[in-house]
Amino acid sequence: MLLLLCSKPSMLWLLAVVVTARVSEAAAGKPKLIDYGSACESRDNAVSLRSSTASTPDGPEPGDLAAAFSVPTLDGEFSYQPGALQGPLIVHAFSNKSGFLECMWSSESSLISLVEELPNSTQVLFLSLDDSAVSDVLWMREQLQRVAMHRNKEVLSRLHFSPVPVFALGNWIPNVLYYWRCTGRGCVFSQAVFKSEGWKMPIIIKRLDARYDWLSPRRDPRSYQLVDAGDGCEPSPSVTGALAWLSEGNCSFFTKVQNMAKSNASAVLVYALPGNPIQDMNCVGDECDTTLAIPAAMVHLEVSVAQALEFGQPVYVSFQNTPSPNFFMGIDHQGALAEMGWFIYPSFSFINWQAQWFDFYAALQTKLQSPAKVVPVFDKVQMQGAKGAVATVDLPIALSDFDVLELDASLSCPGRRDSSCAHWDHTVQLFVCCDPLGPYCNTELGRWITAFRRGIGRWLTDVSPLLPLLDSNKCSLTMKTVPWAMPWVVSLKLRFSVGNRTDYTVEKLRPFRVMPLYSGGTFDKNYNKRFRPTKVSVPASTKKVELYAVITAHGYDDNRCGEFCVTSHYFLINDAFNNTLTFDSAGTPLGCTLRVKEGAVPNEHGTWLYGRAGWCDGLQVDPWRTDITKQLNTSELESNTVVYFGLFQGKDPNPAKDPGYIIMSSFLVFYK
Ligand SMILES: *[C@@H]1O[C@H](CO)[C@@H](O)[C@H](O)[C@H]1NC(C)=O
Ligand SMILES: *[C@@H]1O[C@H](CO)[C@@H](O)[C@H](O)[C@H]1NC(C)=O
Ligand SMILES: *[C@@H]1O[C@H](CO)[C@@H](O)[C@H](O)[C@H]1NC(C)=O
Ligand SMILES: *[C@@H]1O[C@H](CO)[C@@H](O)[C@H](O)[C@H]1NC(C)=O
Ligand SMILES: *[C@@H]1O[C@H](CO)[C@@H](O)[C@H](O)[C@H]1NC(C)=O
Ligand SMILES: *[C@@H]1O[C@H](CO)[C@@H](O)[C@H](O)[C@H]1NC(C)=O
Ligand SMILES: *[C@@H]1O[C@H](CO)[C@@H](O)[C@H](O)[C@H]1NC(C)=O
Repeated sequence: MLLLLCSKPSMLWLLAVVVTARVSEAAAGKPKLIDYGSACESRDNAVSLRSSTASTPDGPEPGDLAAAFSVPTLDGEFSYQPGALQGPLIVHAFSNKSGFLECMWSSESSLISLVEELPNSTQVLFLSLDDSAVSDVLWMREQLQRVAMHRNKEVLSRLHFSPVPVFALGNWIPNVLYYWRCTGRGCVFSQAVFKSEGWKMPIIIKRLDARYDWLSPRRDPRSYQLVDAGDGCEPSPSVTGALAWLSEGNCSFFTKVQNMAKSNASAVLVYALPGNPIQDMNCVGDECDTTLAIPAAMVHLEVSVAQALEFGQPVYVSFQNTPSPNFFMGIDHQGALAEMGWFIYPSFSFINWQAQWFDFYAALQTKLQSPAKVVPVFDKVQMQGAKGAVATVDLPIALSDFDVLELDASLSCPGRRDSSCAHWDHTVQLFVCCDPLGPYCNTELGRWITAFRRGIGRWLTDVSPLLPLLDSNKCSLTMKTVPWAMPWVVSLKLRFSVGNRTDYTVEKLRPFRVMPLYSGGTFDKNYNKRFRPTKVSVPASTKKVELYAVITAHGYDDNRCGEFCVTSHYFLINDAFNNTLTFDSAGTPLGCTLRVKEGAVPNEHGTWLYGRAGWCDGLQVDPWRTDITKQLNTSELESNTVVYFGLFQGKDPNPAKDPGYIIMSSFLVFYK
């Protein structure tokens, strides 16, 4: 749950490239219009205000069906007819007033990601917001053609470029882009404002803020004196308290910013050398382990600024953000309008991830058509507080007819926009109690992690081994997260079905008993001391035994454990068989992006991309299942032992401070 990125754009720390705009003092001095610095919470107020007057909606909302439209393109015409496309359509409106978009369209890795990884199902319609739409889309097409030519020409047939500017389209698309105005990272026109006594008007240019990994965001509306510090590859005492003005090149962006931080500069602006685009200032490798405390951004070189500095004329700089329409919207496989979430850095990967999720969601819809006995538990119920969401349901009488139990769960938000969603990622657990006097009452049946501020998540989780927990025909189910979390709206259905049989020579087995093993706890030096070996007897007539565990690690100690460190979990059977689960992708920069195809919610308003220990934001926690029949001795009572232990780097954890914790449910499941 570390590092939520609140969508409040920092006033102070990015630079971008833009067509220079000269604005009168009066216009530039209206902070009410341009200051997006209010906290996240105040945006929630804006949303609830809007929905309270929702009887006259101002435009389509996410989930509404997209109407037909057609637009002229460089190759003829693009026509959207509901139901006619085989897959999703993504609409992107470019503006060169955004340093973020300039970088996204100039960066080779960004262009390559679209050409190589745009899902085959997906088409993209490219537009421009500006007067320069014709030259913009010609340039955009050329950028992609150049990269696609020797990589994947096929993709070009799915990319459409319209030379008609958004303001002249005359269809519903502008309404969505302006009405879904986005204030997150990647949206808004981020600008640097330069003032100097000799000038009649300030010079306002686009800026692109440096990446979040290594800079702590700070909002600071102050104006700083600009001090030229060359290429910034060495510390420079002259920048103390000032905003350091550096050229790109000769050393890494990280080195520049670190040198200026050491020199006590208040902020950094790096300018692109003439003819170069604005770049995504980011750290590489180990650099990313160092967090720097000053804002930094990239801009184009502005001649008047350079001249003023050369002549010793003081120049002052402040950062501002001006609202923009949304640059992205989607239409999913079902023809519904969809938000595209947060683009955390300038890359087309975020389009690919959202499109992968559209594909996942369409496949899920198909899976949900397969025959099953469906028991509704929650239908858009608010889950909040210590109580969570609670329901009592009647189960099918003939439970023994089924051998598959799946949880069909979704987590959505109080409003239709992602902006109404809870901010943080929290663990959600589902507990079941059928026989209050039985051994299984209040056992965990499912676990999910909430997404940072996105309400699209829906997941199907196979929990068939836990069928024996349903030991009566009336069950009470409780789904909850931490009591201080903002509300989620949950839906949950139990799906009972008959498993798909591939091998008819093997007898069909059904779980008949579940034996709880261990639960987790604080991941400190005493973690493993609490786990004693358990004696296990295999009940008569057992044909198969399975180890079933749901394990997630959380918290942040001095080794980044448990959320971001690689931990291993062992179930040692009869002192001979080590059944091991290792969270290899914990802490990797893009670990959770690889799971979007499995339903991890993409483009969340936070650091969803990092790999986590056994989980991802906006995803179910998959149970870990291992057949251990051959590891057990079935001939005698209590003739087997099982013991669990959890290690960090092959040893007992030993954090110096703030130990993390493990949440674990683990069972042996007996089948006959
Ligand atoms: C975008 O703006 C930058 C700087 O203002 C300029 O160098 C570049 O040529 C522009 N790109 C397009 C496609 O107009
Ligand atoms: C698209 O399909 C081709 C051919 O089936 C396949 O090789 C390629 O990996 C697919 N691309 C993506 C992004 O799925
Ligand atoms: C990079 O280093 C070279 C050699 O020291 C220097 O001449 C040049 O001015 C530097 N570049 C910039 C942009 O400062
Ligand atoms: C930066 O500030 C710190 C704390 O005030 C001071 O100890 C240090 O000498 C300063 N460094 C420079 C290069 O001015
Ligand atoms: C049946 O199981 C096989 C193998 O597990 C799988 O490939 C197939 O898609 C399944 N069929 C259905 C209808 O679920
Ligand atoms: C099981 O794994 C642990 C940790 O790596 C190791 O110390 C132990 O010797 C292993 N036991 C067996 C029986 O392989
Ligand atoms: C099961 O345990 C009994 C008694 O300890 C032993 O005699 C027998 O060989 C064991 N069987 C297996 C398969 O390990």
